[in-house]
Amino acid sequence: MFSLLVALTLLGQLHSSAAKSNCPLYGPLLPKPTNLLQDAGIRAAGRNLDSVFPRYIDNNKVVGADRFSYAVEVFSANDAKPLWSHYWTAPNLRDLNSTGVSKVDTNTVFRVGSITKIYTVLTFLATVGDGIWNDPVTKYIPELATIARAVPGGSMFVPDWDSITVGSLASQTSGLIRDYALLGELGWQLNLTRLYDMGFPPINITEFPPCGTNPTCSRQQLLYGLSKLPPSFPSHTTPTYSDLGFVILSYIAETITGKDFKSLVKDTVIAPLKLKNTFVTAPDDSLGIIPGNRYSTSWAFEMAEESATGNMYASAGDLSAIGRAIMKSTLLKPAVTRRWLKPSAFTSDPKSQLGMPWGVRQIELSSDQTYQFVHAFNKIGSLGSYTSLIAVIPELDLGFSVLAAGDLPAGLATDIADTLTTTYVPAIMATARTQANVLYAGTYRVARVRGSPSINSTLTITTDASKPGLGVTNWISNGTDMGLVATAIGQNITQAYLDKVKPSVRLYPTGLEEKVEGGGKRIAFKAVFEDLSLADKKASMSTDCSTWVTVTAVVYGSQPLDLFIFDVDEDGDVTGVENAALRVKLGRV
Ligand SMILES: *[C@@H]1O[C@H](CO)[C@@H](O)[C@H](O)[C@H]1NC(C)=O
Ligand SMILES: *[C@@H]1O[C@H](CO)[C@@H](O)[C@H](O)[C@H]1NC(C)=O
Ligand SMILES: *[C@@H]1O[C@H](CO)[C@@H](O)[C@H](O)[C@H]1NC(C)=O
Ligand SMILES: *[C@@H]1O[C@H](CO)[C@@H](O)[C@H](O)[C@H]1NC(C)=O
Ligand SMILES: *[C@@H]1O[C@H](CO)[C@@H](O)[C@H](O)[C@H]1NC(C)=O
Ligand SMILES: *[C@@H]1O[C@H](CO)[C@@H](O)[C@H](O)[C@H]1NC(C)=O
Repeated sequence: MFSLLVALTLLGQLHSSAAKSNCPLYGPLLPKPTNLLQDAGIRAAGRNLDSVFPRYIDNNKVVGADRFSYAVEVFSANDAKPLWSHYWTAPNLRDLNSTGVSKVDTNTVFRVGSITKIYTVLTFLATVGDGIWNDPVTKYIPELATIARAVPGGSMFVPDWDSITVGSLASQTSGLIRDYALLGELGWQLNLTRLYDMGFPPINITEFPPCGTNPTCSRQQLLYGLSKLPPSFPSHTTPTYSDLGFVILSYIAETITGKDFKSLVKDTVIAPLKLKNTFVTAPDDSLGIIPGNRYSTSWAFEMAEESATGNMYASAGDLSAIGRAIMKSTLLKPAVTRRWLKPSAFTSDPKSQLGMPWGVRQIELSSDQTYQFVHAFNKIGSLGSYTSLIAVIPELDLGFSVLAAGDLPAGLATDIADTLTTTYVPAIMATARTQANVLYAGTYRVARVRGSPSINSTLTITTDASKPGLGVTNWISNGTDMGLVATAIGQNITQAYLDKVKPSVRLYPTGLEEKVEGGGKRIAFKAVFEDLSLADKKASMSTDCSTWVTVTAVVYGSQPLDLFIFDVDEDGDVTGVENAALRVKLGRV
């Protein structure tokens, strides 16, 4: 029998004349393409950018690129070399008496500012793991436990430290304020007479933090300061960007591992990934781009106790390398990476969600077909004369590194990332489709066995520029139109209904595969069966895109009707397909 859940979900849906959009499962819509460096479409995208960047940035007077330098790399998880890169050195650099490099390239070191938080979380995941995400921070930081005992449950002026979890620090949902003493504290930035003139009242000097940028706070000062900071919100209420959260996260890792955090980053991330141009403290000036004085640019600014939130330095080449390592899960178990690359909180922009500590952007793939998306996990950093951005798009194994230094126009890094997204996302999707077409498309038929009666079983795989996944058409099982049966079986099998059904069978990669003896492998795809005659329906509680509810709604003898397994031979060619429920192997014709 069919699943009641499915029947209930679909009950009451109306038929419409216009075919509705397919609703794919969340995840890659097609198998990830390979050999991108050699791909004609990807190369053409790069040639296009080769003319766009000089014209719109480097030689554009309005942008002011005579006063900033930058490095951009587009990378894929599986190619060691970037798919595209562009390096620009500000013409004014030679007039600045810089102690840094005179020319920017893939090895030039920049400050990456808050991208440091990505290294911090990766280090945490690689050493401590995500098993303690729901533990209260008071379990690991005795000073905070003391505050929690003094003010049980917290107050409007004291955070409820017992309800602030380790994971909330990483996902910016702790409700803690942004900084202590470091940024935002006016007393450290402007002279007091000036502040009084601006309308701030004279206050007792002891109310200002005793430390900040110079001198920076000690751990003791920082944790004492935390006892005086009001929370912005109760934890897990709304995202509020907090640098403090990452400092506490580094203290927790230190408590658990017994090692100092900078050594942890070096030993568990920088050394294993051979990141020669990544540093937890300022490297020799000769390695970096320093657009002016080493102090006034903040090149030499040492964040000391607060390093875990923003002190790191990296080259574009190394930023690309860490992006690849994240997507390939080089340092983590794949399941940990899958958990990490998911949103943890909402923001007010429905296209943006928050990860740990990623900004997650939903990127639309098609303007006329809804529900086709990929998701970019981004982090932006900015410190002194530097700005930076890293983005990874797991569905495409694609990423971007953007580093800039100098007199920077507002929004430079995100504008560059927008351009790269507009260029590469469609290009990679087109390549994925072309490669999927070569690999999978065609007719598959049951092999004639001598002496036994022939059975009429066949199917055809297609790709379609406007539709997600691999299409299954002409799916005949022993003389029956199986596409129609599979679509209707969970619904309403009256003749009147069957005549109206517009069956759609599309296959999506699952990430499940196994090697077979003697070479080759078997790759599992999940089918989504949809009736495209049903009406588009979007209302407060209704949606026409909830196919995840219908996954494996039909099984036959314990095997799913939506499981398709392709055979790939030792040369990488697809030779056949089997539907698990139908138990018959169809050979590629
Ligand atoms: C660079 O050094 C020269 C020679 O010492 C000096 O005249 C000039 O003002 C310096 N420029 C800057 C931007 O510091
Ligand atoms: C502080 O600001 C006041 C008012 O703007 C100014 O007159 C004074 O010179 C400043 N003091 C210092 C030490 O910069
Ligand atoms: C400032 O605060 C400190 C500590 O509370 C106190 O000892 C001192 O008397 C205060 N000074 C003034 C001028 O109010
Ligand atoms: C094909 O269908 C016929 C008629 O229903 C049935 O007798 C036969 O067992 C089926 N064969 C296979 C291999 O499914
Ligand atoms: C196989 O079955 C389909 C669907 O019933 C039918 O249209 C087709 O003619 C059959 N082919 C053969 C060779 O019997
Ligand atoms: C089944 O299909 C018929 C014909 O389209 C329709 O009248 C009836 O309402 C449907 N029943 C359900 C439960 O969807």
